[in-house]
Amino acid sequence: MTGSDEFRLALVGAGRMGHHHLRALADHRSVRIRYVVDPVPAAREAVTAAGLPAYPSVEDLLADAAPDGLLVTAPTGRHGALVAAAAKAGLPVLCEKPAGLDPAGAAEAGRVAAAAGIPFQVAYWRRFVPQLCRLRERIAGGELGEVLFVAAAQWDGEPPAAAFRTGSGGIFVDMGVHEFDQIRWLTGQEIDRVAVQPAGPVTDPAVRGRDVDSAQALLGLSGGGTALVSLGRHHRGGDMATVEVFGTRDHERLAFLDPADGDATMYAALARQAEDFAVLVREGRSAGAGVTDAVAVLDAARRATAQLTPGHEVHTDQ
Ligand SMILES: NC(=O)c1ccc[n+]([C@@H]2O[C@H](COP(=O)([O-])OP(=O)(O)OC[C@H]3O[C@@H](n4cnc5c(N)ncnc54)[C@H](O)[C@@H]3O)[C@@H](O)[C@H]2O)c1
Repeated sequence: MTGSDEFRLALVGAGRMGHHHLRALADHRSVRIRYVVDPVPAAREAVTAAGLPAYPSVEDLLADAAPDGLLVTAPTGRHGALVAAAAKAGLPVLCEKPAGLDPAGAAEAGRVAAAAGIPFQVAYWRRFVPQLCRLRERIAGGELGEVLFVAAAQWDGEPPAAAFRTGSGGIFVDMGVHEFDQIRWLTGQEIDRVAVQPAGPVTDPAVRGRDVDSAQALLGLSGGGTALVSLGRHHRGGDMATVEVFGTRDHERLAFLDPADGDATMYAALARQAEDFAVLVREGRSAGAGVTDAVAVLDAARRATAQLTPGHEVHTDQ
């Protein structure tokens, strides 16, 4: 691969997820993170020490460099403004999930990107996990028959800091969006109905009333099946995710995120996702999520979140 073929990303947000992307693309042959933006000096120092130029804002970056696209990994509440900054500069943008705190925010980001004519992809990395892609093909090919039930679980090793939890929209907007996107993408069905049951204590007093440590959502799908989404922030050993699909002909269970494998599955998927984004920019086709997906997923998350109250009372929205 020659230097001119390289796809050069600017990473916007050098926190937890930003560093995952940096590691995932560190040795990539064609897609590289060449610049970093972060308003916090300590975050910039950490990447400049590793040899990457870092800037306090997108405007400062663009005064000095011409990346091929932005990879937005700033906090969710900043996604809309950063997509708008990319649109203003005519730069393609790959935005971390969920692309805004609510469906209206994601829709507005999509509208701004479309008006500017920039490619806009939302980073749901599970769409680039080979096991899940094969399961999706099996479902689309009818091998499982009619989908009756999907059970999807995501339990993290430990809760993130209170400041992150109170600013990220809560468990459904932060975590559940992965499962909502995965269920729509795997089955090709929309999420019609959402009924939620929060469970157990909230261990961090600083987030009480703003987030829960675990919640279960029962979904009604447009094809007539149902799905269960189980989310939790305490899984001893590390982050895990599983999905099981029951159809009229067959069923399949995948434990695609296993603490024993560490971050290997996610890093490989993040690299494939970045390659896909480069293809989107250069050839106009993508296997990734777009604004319609982001809005539908955030709408399900909004309906689920509305059923969580500080007193853990349950309200259904049917
Ligand atoms: N796909 C996944 O599996 C996954 C996992 C974790 C987080 N995320 C997403 O990544 C995003 C960031 O989460 P995180 O855990 O890394 O948060 P974080 O708080 O660890 O990091 C965010 C970073 O963004 C920087 N920042 C703040 N405002 C900025 C701005 N205007 N421009 C540039 N940088 C800015 C902060 O200084 C910080 O360094 C969230 O939207 C989250 O939903 C995705």
